[in-house]
Formats: sequence, C-alpha cells, structure tokens
Amino acid sequence: MGLICGQRPPKLKIGRVPRGVNASEPRVLGDQFALLVSSVVDYAIFMLDPAGVIVTWNEGAQRIKGYTADEIIGRHFSIFYSEEDARNHKPDWELEVAKREGRYAEEGWRLRRDGTRFWASVVITALRDETGRLRGFGKVTRDLTERRRQEERRDAEREAEAARLREHADRMAELEHTKTQFLNLASHELRGPLTVIRGYNSMLADGSIPAEQIPAVARILDGKLAQIDLLIEQMLETARLEHDSFDLFRDTFDLRDVAQDQLDVFRPISPRHVFVMSADDGPLVIEGDRARIGTILANFVDNALKYSPEGGEVCITTGRRESNAFVSVRDEGFGIAPEYMALLFTRFGRLPTEQNVSIPGTGLGLFLCKEIAIRHGGDIAVHSKPGSGSEFTLTLPLKRIVRPAR
Ligand SMILES: Nc1ncnc2c1ncn2[C@@H]1O[C@H](COP(=O)(O)OP(=O)(O)OP(=O)(O)O)[C@@H](O)[C@H]1O
Ligand SMILES: [Mg+2]
Repeated sequence: MGLICGQRPPKLKIGRVPRGVNASEPRVLGDQFALLVSSVVDYAIFMLDPAGVIVTWNEGAQRIKGYTADEIIGRHFSIFYSEEDARNHKPDWELEVAKREGRYAEEGWRLRRDGTRFWASVVITALRDETGRLRGFGKVTRDLTERRRQEERRDAEREAEAARLREHADRMAELEHTKTQFLNLASHELRGPLTVIRGYNSMLADGSIPAEQIPAVARILDGKLAQIDLLIEQMLETARLEHDSFDLFRDTFDLRDVAQDQLDVFRPISPRHVFVMSADDGPLVIEGDRARIGTILANFVDNALKYSPEGGEVCITTGRRESNAFVSVRDEGFGIAPEYMALLFTRFGRLPTEQNVSIPGTGLGLFLCKEIAIRHGGDIAVHSKPGSGSEFTLTLPLKRIVRPAR
C-alpha cells in the first residue's frame, strides 16, 4: 500500500518550543519522510489536529488498529479508548499533558476496530510551528500485546512457582507440627497402658499374684496390649495418609457381615450396654477395603461405649438409601454440643469437654474414619443432642451388579 495520509502534513517542529528560545533548525517532515512514515508497518504513526481529530494514517496504524484511512480520518482519536476511558476524558487529558509537557507516553489497553483489546505503547507528541503555535499531535503506537502476554505468562509461572514453594514450606511446617504432636501423644497415650503392664509384670516376677488370678491378669494385659496396638495402628494409618501411601484393598463383601463382626467383638467387652442389631433384609454388597470399613465401625462402637459410660442401648442399624448402603451406630451417651461438630473429624480432634479429661483417646479415630469413607466414595454424618446421645452414620455406594444380557 502506498501513501495513505489524509492530508499533506504541515511543516512542523516536534515537541514544545519554549517561548523565547530560538530552537535549532526545525525538523521538517518532507514528502519522502511522509512516504517513509506511511509505509512503516510495525508502528501506528498518525497525526491529530489540535482537537484530537485524526488527519493522517499509515500502514502500521491500519495493521494494528484495523481501520483503513478512509474509515478513520476525520474521526476523533477517542475511538481507540474503552467506553470508561472515554467517559473519564482520558484522551483529552492525554492531549492536555502532551500540550503542557511536549509529550505524553504510557502503556495501556486500546481498542481495535473489531472491538478486541490490544496492549499499546503510546507516545503523543505536541507539534508546533515556528511561532510555537500548536498545530496538532503526532501519535506513535506499538502493539505490545504479545510481549505483555509473555510477561503475564512469566508472572503467572513465577507466581505458581512461589505458591508451590509456599505450599511446600507450609506442608513441611505442618509435618513438623504433626511429628511433635505424634511424639507428645505417643508418649502420653502409651504411658498409661505401659504403666499397667509394668506393674503386673513386676507382681508376676515377685510371685505376688496367686496362680488362680493369672488368667484374669493375662486378660487385662491383653486389653492393654490391644490398646497399644490400636494406637500404633492409628498413627501408622495417619502417617500413610500424610505420605499418600494409603493403598486400599478391594474386596466385595456384605456390609451387614462387617456390622455383625463388630457387634460380636464388642458385645462381650461391655456388659453395661445393651447391644441391638437392626439389619436390612436384602444384601448390602460393597466393594472396598473390608478391614478398613471394619475399622470405621470399630471406632463408632468404641466411641459409643466410651462416651456413654453409664451404659444404655447401643444400636447398630444397616440399610439402603437409593444407590447407597448405610450403617449407623447410635448410643445414649453424652451427646455432642453443636459448636464442637466442626472439630469431630479433624486430626487430633478430641473435644475439650470435662468428660474427656478422664477418658483416654488420641482424637485420631474419627479423622481416619472420615478419610477412609471418602476414599471409598462414601461419607459420614452425625446426629447428636447433648445429654441424649449420638448417632454416627457411614454411607457407602452399593456395588453395581451388572446382569448378563439374555
Ligand atoms: N459417640 C460419641 N458421643 C459423644 N462424643 C463423641 C462420640 N464420638 C466421638 N465423640 C467426641 O469426638 C471426639 C473425637 O472422637 P475420635 O474418635 O476421633 O477421638 P477419641 O475417641 O478421642 O480418640 P481415639 O483416637 O482413641 O478414637 C472425642 O474425643 C469425643 O469427644
Ligand atoms: Mg474414638
């Protein structure tokens, strides 16, 4: 494309010539120079009259902004600005600054003919004649959208990297904190059963336990060893979760059998409680880690017994709701105050209740239960009323039985 200037540019000096100063030889925009400017493609170079109306246009301007010379010459240059900028008189203000300072420069968003935005580097220069009278403005615009995108990409990458590092640092700090909690807890919770074992052991060693009482002592020691076992298992499970090495086994089993197993384990332990089983008629076939689902129920029942020391009914109910199976354990114990609900499933989330001062526990039980349930595509819900008891319900997706086509 050739020369696409709208009108012949006047002889001008670029920038402001301060009054009284005899500027050196003014730079003259001759025909050849105008030709050169008009064919520059990487820069939009055009002139405005003193009111901001476009009077010349070059190839670069057409390429960057999308208007032909015919379309744009005679229009006010505020057409390149967003509605908001135009409303705030930004274009007029820029001309004002150029008039006052000789030039105005900035980077900012401008609009193309098709309404899309581009990131522009803009320089507006006041053009004055020999007498210093303002004849218009020269405007040079570069499209820096790609550069800005690259910068934004780099910024986003840097920000993502910083976030990754922050996350890593937070995780390390959390692990450190967990380790300390583990150590405190292990020493505190293990000391109880160990003291009992040590006591009985020294009595056995010095023969102060009559022979007929030895089976009963052995049962007590068994109980204490089971407590230690459980604590170690809970800590190992929590550590597996921390390190993402919590691999689930996949069995297919009936949830009612798991409930019955736990009932059989716990019924003889607590004669003070009345155990009731209410089972669904049909099978409740689940696919998942049978041992760990058993652990969830063991925790529910263990809690039901621990937090209803006066005894009462412990009711285990199984059933189905839509495509899920559920099993719930209800007790008639202390119940849980609504303000503590959020703490229940957190790691080491023992409730700060009066009763818990004398009831042993780590606060890992329900945390692990919830993690196991979620990893099976299930969940745990609680209903509780202080003074009336609690009900914990585990929901798990039923295994979809695919019937062979006839
Ligand atoms: N059935 C329940 N009735 C009343 N409070 C309960 C019941 N189950 C849990 N809680 C409260 O929720 C807290 C968290 O329970 P969770 O089973 O996670 O830990 P824990 O029983 O204290 O210790 P452990 O790790 O040995 O199970 C308990 O400390 C207890 O205060
Ligand atoms: Mg518990």
